Amino acid sequence: MYSIRAFATLASLLRLASAADVFAHFMVQNTYAYDINQWKTDMSQAQAIGVDGFALNWIPPDCVPGLDWTVARINDAFTAAEQVGFKLMHSFDMSYSVCDVYWNQTFMASILSTHAGSSAAYRWNSNLLVSTYGGDQVVQYGNQFFQGLKNTMQSSNAISIAPALTTYSMSAQYDASSAASSLVSDYPSIDGYLNWQAWPLDVQQNSSVTPDQAFQSALKSKGRAGPYVMAVSPWQYKDLNDGNPLDAWVAYSDTLFPDRLRQLTSDAIQPDIIELLSWNDFCESHYLRDLPSQDITAKDYVELGDMGNYVWGQSHSAWRVIAKYYLHWWKNGSPPAITEDQVVFWHRVHPKDAVCTGGSSTGIRNNDMPEDAVFAWALVSENSTISMTVGSNQYWNFEADNSGPTMNMVPFPSDLTGNGVTPIVAIMRNGQLLGVSNSSQAISSDCAYQNYNPVVGLVGPGL
Ligand SMILES: *[C@@H]1O[C@H](CO)[C@@H](O)[C@H](O)[C@H]1NC(C)=O
Ligand SMILES: *[C@@H]1O[C@H](CO)[C@@H](O)[C@H](O)[C@H]1NC(C)=O
Ligand SMILES: *[C@@H]1O[C@H](CO)[C@@H](O)[C@H](O)[C@H]1NC(C)=O
Ligand SMILES: *[C@@H]1O[C@H](CO)[C@@H](O)[C@H](O)[C@H]1NC(C)=O
Repeated sequence: MYSIRAFATLASLLRLASAADVFAHFMVQNTYAYDINQWKTDMSQAQAIGVDGFALNWIPPDCVPGLDWTVARINDAFTAAEQVGFKLMHSFDMSYSVCDVYWNQTFMASILSTHAGSSAAYRWNSNLLVSTYGGDQVVQYGNQFFQGLKNTMQSSNAISIAPALTTYSMSAQYDASSAASSLVSDYPSIDGYLNWQAWPLDVQQNSSVTPDQAFQSALKSKGRAGPYVMAVSPWQYKDLNDGNPLDAWVAYSDTLFPDRLRQLTSDAIQPDIIELLSWNDFCESHYLRDLPSQDITAKDYVELGDMGNYVWGQSHSAWRVIAKYYLHWWKNGSPPAITEDQVVFWHRVHPKDAVCTGGSSTGIRNNDMPEDAVFAWALVSENSTISMTVGSNQYWNFEADNSGPTMNMVPFPSDLTGNGVTPIVAIMRNGQLLGVSNSSQAISSDCAYQNYNPVVGLVGPGL
């Protein structure tokens, strides 16, 4: 007991001594309507839960005609970030190859240099930190490309590279140590790594930290200066509805977010940086940001097209309450005091075997994996009873206390025809009702569109 405590104390001291920064992956493609104030709004909302910066994901601006506005938005992002004390790093999307236009080192170097003097430019060991999505699957990139970019930058603004090379992250789900040792030997140019695979890969199993441990120790054993960036995500569901079965899948994500965030509070894995996937990737259903506006004149208007079928009306904002709790814990080395009474709850809007009229005719890969259930995560300041009602599954109660979060779930009832049922969640103490929330969406088996994206609700303050 004594030695475990001593070890925990040492680990938390080490944690304080390291960077302990949190980034959120940010899709620049969704900022067409943004102005500087809108950037500041997003950044302040992210800061409120302990996010220190955005990793700006973008594709080469010549990919699609008229995409050169992305450069202007990124300039605005730096201006906004300087004003609110926020950080930014570039995350060059190197997976996108359909346009047959690729990043080149001259352009990347000029973009990196433009913002190198900004107080918002994120640095690792005094180098500018550069990340990617991909770089291993498109022949135009790879180790030589990364080394070339580093060489180009060396004399003016030296960089450290922590790319997300998805083939290695995926194979680490099967054999972590061999994937990690291949990574460091195939990529001598990289300093750190972003392990993108934040979801179980086509298995009905909870995520483990084994791949994270393997990548981190492989970097260390080769003397790479890091950072090791651990990806943490609440969900994964995507349906491009394009006839390609590879573009329609759900990952087993029922309790993924609190589970993976809790892993950070153990000594099993202590990354240098956490990257939340994501702030605003609506397409893959892992957004933590508020839903964008549907008003075309709004500064956060986003055109969602078909994916709107599973995004509109499905807020995830209350998940930020869970993130805030664990990120605070991770940064400070001890759990935060619980001063409020909150229950975050989430559920999908139709049972998994419902036959819906719209959506991919090829079906959704892994759609038998999620539980048909309403999940709840309670954080209360004093002993409380949490009462959940899901249609005929009435008043399923559980007890929560202030020792930490308590999880529970209530299965969907069998009769979900017609308008279905709307989950209701309440917090009670000493016979008094402290708060109650109806979900903003009903669960119904009469569904117009296949939808494995959950809606997230909140009882109590916090948004
Ligand atoms: C480099 O990329 C930029 C941005 O996509 C593009 O405008 C420029 O033409 C490219 N340069 C070369 C030599 O390909
Ligand atoms: C995943 O973890 C949750 C607890 O957070 C547990 O209830 C569930 O059964 C686990 N799932 C599997 C497939 O082991
Ligand atoms: C609160 O609940 C715990 C069990 O979770 C119990 O041990 C404790 O005595 C309770 N405290 C009060 C004040 O009722
Ligand atoms: C919540 O649902 C209950 C039961 O269906 C209903 O009586 C109540 O009016 C609802 N509350 C709100 C704010 O819609």
